Amino acid sequence: MSASLSRPRVGVWLIGARGSVATTVVTGCAAVAAGLHPPTGMVTETPPFTESGLPALSDLVFGGHDTLDCPLPKRAESLTAGGVLPPGVATAVAAELAAADREIRPGGPTPGDTRSEAELITAFADDLRDFLHRHELERAVVVNVASTEPVSQGPGAPLPASTLYALAALRAGCPYVNFTPSEGMHHPVAAREAERSGLPHAGRDGKTGQTLLRAVLGPMFAQRALTVRAWSGTNLLGGGDGAALADPAAAAAKNAGKERVLADTLGTVPEGEVHIDDVPALGDWKTAWDHIAFDGFLGTRMILQTIWQGCDSALAAPLVLDLARLTARAHESGVSGPLSALGFYFKDPVGEGPSGLAEQYGELLRFGRSLGEADGEDRGARAVRGTEKTGGAL
Ligand SMILES: NC(=O)c1ccc[n+]([C@@H]2O[C@H](COP(=O)([O-])OP(=O)(O)OC[C@H]3O[C@@H](n4cnc5c(N)ncnc54)[C@H](O)[C@@H]3O)[C@@H](O)[C@H]2O)c1
Repeated sequence: MSASLSRPRVGVWLIGARGSVATTVVTGCAAVAAGLHPPTGMVTETPPFTESGLPALSDLVFGGHDTLDCPLPKRAESLTAGGVLPPGVATAVAAELAAADREIRPGGPTPGDTRSEAELITAFADDLRDFLHRHELERAVVVNVASTEPVSQGPGAPLPASTLYALAALRAGCPYVNFTPSEGMHHPVAAREAERSGLPHAGRDGKTGQTLLRAVLGPMFAQRALTVRAWSGTNLLGGGDGAALADPAAAAAKNAGKERVLADTLGTVPEGEVHIDDVPALGDWKTAWDHIAFDGFLGTRMILQTIWQGCDSALAAPLVLDLARLTARAHESGVSGPLSALGFYFKDPVGEGPSGLAEQYGELLRFGRSLGEADGEDRGARAVRGTEKTGGAL
């Protein structure tokens, strides 16, 4: 029996496939699979997940949509020049980058696009089905890593692109992960379809820096019975994300998730705001400063300040790989609906679940164990059948 029968390959379809995060995902996956780098930052590569039945990194096949046409190897080159990717890695995995590049299809809507929403959904779903069919994949996880969209205009407004892609994923029978604050599957139209489809989905907005710290520090203040009076934050970042978040409506979508973590962990919303400043010179490097004013015993006033300096895409990429593997395995195991056990990864998690990082990690470990225990059909048999089942009925 060939390896491909015992280990079916799994598709990862990236919306925003030519962006910094997506390029780092494709490059990093190939580099780690080839043993060029250790899987630092990938929780699914730690011992508790060994028996979860997750697809191997070498079995992931990448494709996606983007509205830009910059070739992926060129994008990787500029990320190398910016110090995001270590020297030599993009060259070492040039074949994998070129293969993923061939699988990127034009996204939308582009300026002047005359296609209707229904036509766009059909086009996106057709691209997905074609990808599944040509690679003989039983499943592909759609992951949104496209530019953050402005907050939706409400009832009657056109569907945001992220929701068109989410609907296309459902139509093609694909599980879906929203790594961005955009509406995606949260839009009522998509939420209704998601419920009907029984497909697993997760989101939204990856928790990679400032909010990760908030999910640790919020519970600390609450558990030590310290009163947080104000929690203010400022972010300086460049890159495509910095430019997109310079739009106050897009930044509002991002900040809502950051504030939810505080409200959920502290039980109140403290005074203070979060600001995001676009500083193009910083490229993919983000500095996040938090200033927390709190009261101790007898009302004694104190301050905690934190400064997080991280490379955004290097923080996000291992999480995207974790999420793709966990969601693919959930789909294979017959898990449906919102994957609340993946709240560990998100600022604004779907479903009900704890908001402190330690409890979220506990949930994730339980989920990983349950995936390992899930009764499944023989994977080899599924691989043979895979090409027949490429879509739902939407
Ligand atoms: N630490 C992190 O990096 C982090 C954490 C949480 C969330 N995110 C989110 O991940 C997303 C990607 O971040 P990035 O740094 O890669 O941004 P980026 O600007 O480098 O990439 C975004 C890509 O999306 C593409 N795009 C825009 N509109 C599209 C559409 N309608 N269809 C298809 N593609 C489209 C762009 O052309 C671009 O290639 C952002 O929404 C960001 O907020 C990132």
